Amino acid sequence: MSLSAAVETSGLSKAYDGKTVVDNLRLRIAEGEIFGLLGPNGAGKTTTILMLLGLTEPTSGTASIYGHNPTREPLQVKRLIGYLPENVGFYDNLTARENLQFIAELNGIGEAEADARVTELLDAVGLHDVNDLVVGKYSKGMKQRLGIADVLIKRPKVAILDEPTAGLDPEGINQVLDLITGLPEKGAMVILSSHQLYQVQKICHRVGIMSQGKLVVEGALDELGKKVGGGTRYQIEVETTEPGIRAIAIIKKVKGVIRVETKGNMLLIGTNSDLRAEISKAMVNNNLPLIQMRIQTLTLDDIYMRYFKEG
Ligand SMILES: Nc1ncnc2c1ncn2[C@@H]1O[C@H](COP(=O)(O)OP(=O)(O)O)[C@@H](O)[C@H]1O
Ligand SMILES: [Mg+2]
Repeated sequence: MSLSAAVETSGLSKAYDGKTVVDNLRLRIAEGEIFGLLGPNGAGKTTTILMLLGLTEPTSGTASIYGHNPTREPLQVKRLIGYLPENVGFYDNLTARENLQFIAELNGIGEAEADARVTELLDAVGLHDVNDLVVGKYSKGMKQRLGIADVLIKRPKVAILDEPTAGLDPEGINQVLDLITGLPEKGAMVILSSHQLYQVQKICHRVGIMSQGKLVVEGALDELGKKVGGGTRYQIEVETTEPGIRAIAIIKKVKGVIRVETKGNMLLIGTNSDLRAEISKAMVNNNLPLIQMRIQTLTLDDIYMRYFKEG
């Protein structure tokens, strides 16, 4: 995987007025991937995207787009990336075709080539029949599909889409997701952000979940559950009256224990196998009171409840 990472960040951080909003982010995204950067509002997704684009400078750490540093080589990076911002703006009094032609011109694409690309893209995003309507008359879903055509006009190697399904009705969401699914075939890997886990997860090959600026879990969806909270498949939760440093030391000695944290009277123990017997034995042998114990595997629902549920 790291062999072909096309987009990478390492230690990427951003603070505004001393408040860290992107915290030590390490991402590796490969060519051909659809990567979902997910997390609730305020998690730091847009700020991360702006740093990838070279539109905001990191406070520390680095990003690399096909080996180019967005801060030092913004032009090379902008050539590689097609970007759909959260609130895409078009000229409302121009038609879809005119808007795209204008973007093509800005990108230095010659007129004949631009005409061909615009026609092909309007067709691809299903706006062929309405291409002569002014964009002011478009629905939000149509505008968003035009936004995807806009991203593709310069044939980017990386498409970065910020909240591409926000505010769309279910049909609009499906149309946009279908289009995004086809982007890797068109030669563009995809990074999309969303605060709606369930809406976009099905089209993502991998996701990274951000919470309060940190990447809390990352991976393919079917393996995400086991990764929540530190790379383990199970969380064994033990209630004890003595959840101190001694308890942590005792549990850490049990073979197979990967992580131990305390939360109130609970010891939260990360493992990759069911170590309930071994843990209770170690506790009894060390006179550590064991009140109760349970084991759980983490699922997408747990992730949702833990990181996305608001209020
Ligand atoms: N230009 C800025 N100045 C100060 N704070 C900002 C700025 N941009 C974003 N923030 C803060 O950074 C945090 C992350 O914002 P953002 O990256 O937009 O999150 P997301 O896209 O995940 O909703 C939020 O608390 C937001 O208020
Ligand atoms: Mg955002």
